[in-house]
Amino acid sequence: MTLQSFHPPRRILMGPGPSDVSPRVLAALSRPTIGHLDPAFQNLMEEIKAALAEVMKAPGYACLPLPAPGTAGMEAAMMNLLEPGDVAVVAVNGQFGERMVDMAGRAGAEVVRVDHDWGTPADPVRVGAALEGRRAKLLAFVHAETSTGTLTRPKPLCDLARAAGALTVVDCVTSLGGVDVDAAGWGADVVYSGTQKCLSAPPGLSPFAMSPKAREAVAARKEKVRNWLLDMSLIMAYWGGEGGRTYHHTAPINALYGLHEALVALLEEGLDAVHARHKRMHGALAAGIEAAGLKFLVAPEHRLPELNAVLVPEGIDEARVRAHMLARYDLEIGAGLGPLRGRIWRIGLMGASATPWHVRLCLVALCDALAAQNYPDASRAALAAAEAALA
Ligand SMILES: Cc1ncc(COP(=O)(O)O)c(C=O)c1O
Repeated sequence: MTLQSFHPPRRILMGPGPSDVSPRVLAALSRPTIGHLDPAFQNLMEEIKAALAEVMKAPGYACLPLPAPGTAGMEAAMMNLLEPGDVAVVAVNGQFGERMVDMAGRAGAEVVRVDHDWGTPADPVRVGAALEGRRAKLLAFVHAETSTGTLTRPKPLCDLARAAGALTVVDCVTSLGGVDVDAAGWGADVVYSGTQKCLSAPPGLSPFAMSPKAREAVAARKEKVRNWLLDMSLIMAYWGGEGGRTYHHTAPINALYGLHEALVALLEEGLDAVHARHKRMHGALAAGIEAAGLKFLVAPEHRLPELNAVLVPEGIDEARVRAHMLARYDLEIGAGLGPLRGRIWRIGLMGASATPWHVRLCLVALCDALAAQNYPDASRAALAAAEAALA
C-alpha cells in the first residue's frame, strides 16, 4: 500500500461543530511536544485550570479539561455523580438530553425524564413537578441544545434542584464562548463543554468544572466509579497538583497547547465582547434569513445566537442544498437530527466562524443553493438585510 500524506480540502465550517479553528490555535498545536510531567507543561496546566475557572465563572470549582470530546464531560458527570439506585431527573428537549438519559441509565440510575417539544426550552414548572417528593440525586439539562438551537435558562432550574437537595449537571458544550456561562452564579454543580464549538479549537477535549459539593458527593460514593479514565478522584491526582502530580494518563499535550491558545484569545477579546459579537452576527444572519422568506424553528426569545435552526421550505430537498453549498462554496452547514431530520438546517456561528464575512458568504451560498431548486432568488434582499443589521 502506498499511503500518502493527507491534505484536507479547505472548508468553511458553519455547521453545529466543529467550527473554524483560528490560525493562532492551529499554530499553537504544531509547537514541539514536551513531556507531560515537564515543569513547563505543569505550568501550562495550572494556567489552563485558572483560565477555565474564569471563562466558566467557576471560582472554587475543580476545573480541568478531560482528555476526550464533549461527550466525555457528560459521561464523567453521570458516572461520577450517580450510583445504582439513585434517581436522576433529566430535562429532554433535544438529542443531547436524550444522550443524558441514556448515560444516566447506564450509570445504574432510575431516570425520570421530563420531555419537551424539540425547539422549546426546559420548563421550570414541569421540571419542578418532577423533582417534587422524589429525593433525586441530580437534575441534568442542556444549556444550549445544539440539535435545535434552543437556549434554556439555567438559574431557575438550578434553584429548584438545590431546594430539592439535588445536584445539577449543565451541558455547556455549545454555550461556552458563545453565550454567558456562569457556573457559580447559577449554582450549578457540574458544568462541562467541548473545544470544537465556540472555543474554536479542534475537537478532542472537554473543559469540566465541579463544585465543592459535587466533589464531596464523589468522595462519599459507596462504590468505585465504573469508568476508570474519567474517575474524577483519579484524574484529580494528576490535574489537582495537590501533593505532586501522579501519572494517570498521558495528557494530549499538543491539544492542550491549542486549548490554552483558544483561552488566551477568548480572554484577550473579553467574554462580554465575545458574547456581543455572537449576538450581532446572529442578528445579521437572522435578518438575511428572514428577508429570504425563510423561518426559524425556535421563537426569538429562546434562540441561541451560535446555532440557527432554519426550517426547510416546502418542496426543497434539504440535503441537495447542503451538497450544493459544500460543492460550490466549500461551506458546511448541518442537517437536522432525530425528528427534525430533513426539516431544518443548522447554521453555526461559533467562535472564529462568527464574523460578518461568514454571515455574508453563508447567505449568498444558501440563496444560490435554493435558487438551484427554483426557489425565488433572494440573495440581494438577504445581503441588504444583513448589512443593515450589521450597520
Ligand atoms: C449540547 C451538546 N452536548 C454534547 C455534545 C457532545 O460533544 P462531542 O461531540 O464533542 O463529544 C455535543 C456535540 O455536538 C453537543 O452539542
